[in-house]
Amino acid sequence: MNLFEVYPLFDIMPVKAEGSHVWDKNGTRYLDLYGGHAVISVGHSHPHYVQRITEQVQKIGFYSNSVQNPLQVELADKLGEISNYSDFDLFLCNSGAEANENALKLASFHTGRKKVVSFRKGFHGRTEGAVVITDNPSVIAPINETENVIFLPLNDSKALKEALGQEDVCAVIVEGIQGIGGIHLPTDEFLQDARQFCDETGTILILDEIQSGYGRSGKFFAHQYAGIEADLIPIAKGMGNGFPIGGVLISPKFEARMGMLGTTFGGNHLACVAGLAVLEIMKDEDLIQNAQEIGTLLMQSLAGLKGIKEIRGRGLMIGIELEEPFREIRNELLNEHQIFTGASSDGHTLRLLPALNLSRENAEFFIEKFKLVLNK
Ligand SMILES: Cc1ncc(COP(=O)(O)O)c(C=O)c1O
Repeated sequence: MNLFEVYPLFDIMPVKAEGSHVWDKNGTRYLDLYGGHAVISVGHSHPHYVQRITEQVQKIGFYSNSVQNPLQVELADKLGEISNYSDFDLFLCNSGAEANENALKLASFHTGRKKVVSFRKGFHGRTEGAVVITDNPSVIAPINETENVIFLPLNDSKALKEALGQEDVCAVIVEGIQGIGGIHLPTDEFLQDARQFCDETGTILILDEIQSGYGRSGKFFAHQYAGIEADLIPIAKGMGNGFPIGGVLISPKFEARMGMLGTTFGGNHLACVAGLAVLEIMKDEDLIQNAQEIGTLLMQSLAGLKGIKEIRGRGLMIGIELEEPFREIRNELLNEHQIFTGASSDGHTLRLLPALNLSRENAEFFIEKFKLVLNK
């Protein structure tokens, strides 16, 4: 059997990883500033993470959601505390798309409405509900097509107010910082307006923090810069540092009913300890603070370099918009200097999404090599 070929692949086979580095099968070391799509949050193979998962699998790795699992309760407690959302509930699932799917269902159950407002350049996943609110027609199959989604330009408060005016929209969904679209930030004022318009019209505000959450922005959630609270917050990626886990933080305004949501694998023992280990490391090693500091250092060092049009981002979620398409520069960083960076859908913006414990030394190494590539 062949693999179904949907991914363009680099000719690199990583076999080992530690911290912010991966090694390929030839022993070549790479600096990882991408974390496999913003997934590696506390660093590859962190000893505490490895120990927690190893010890757990020796006891029990999985049982279904029909039995008591105190690890889920502990994860919800720790997550509530670190995120400042301790009065919210947690539903656990396995991926980002699934988290958004469940958030959309909750919003629709709660309001009895069907329409969703989403934003240009946004990405929310590839399953039925998530893909139709994603601004990329090439990944929407005919079976997914719907009239229920309204795409608006990001940061256009007037258009948002108008769209919600009929009081027939169940949810507004926005990324804390748009990722794949090229690192675009909703302004604080726009998020405050969105909060107000949603309250006035009985609409649910969903903050997709799947990429921008979990400390990456220098706050636990990127939308916390705007001083607002969301109603639903889908999370995944950095939550498990590579172990598949996702979730939705759910406002107390939602009432649970038996069977309303469900999953076979979500919240299993191994996933929960992966999630717990991530939060323990983040707290013990002050990683949100580090993301803030190293992110600022990177953005200041990048500002004004030759060939750069704009730097956008917060913390360790950084977009470098180049004057030229990024393709050659990205390949050169990888092949000549062994540095992984991320692409984005606009063709010009490189994304930096390293582990939150990226060191100053590794950040400076990148700047040095990047200057060489830009000045070539
Ligand atoms: C903002 C955002 N939402 C949702 C998703 C989908 O997550 P997953 O690939 O885990 O389904 C992604 C993935 O890149 C994302 O960046």
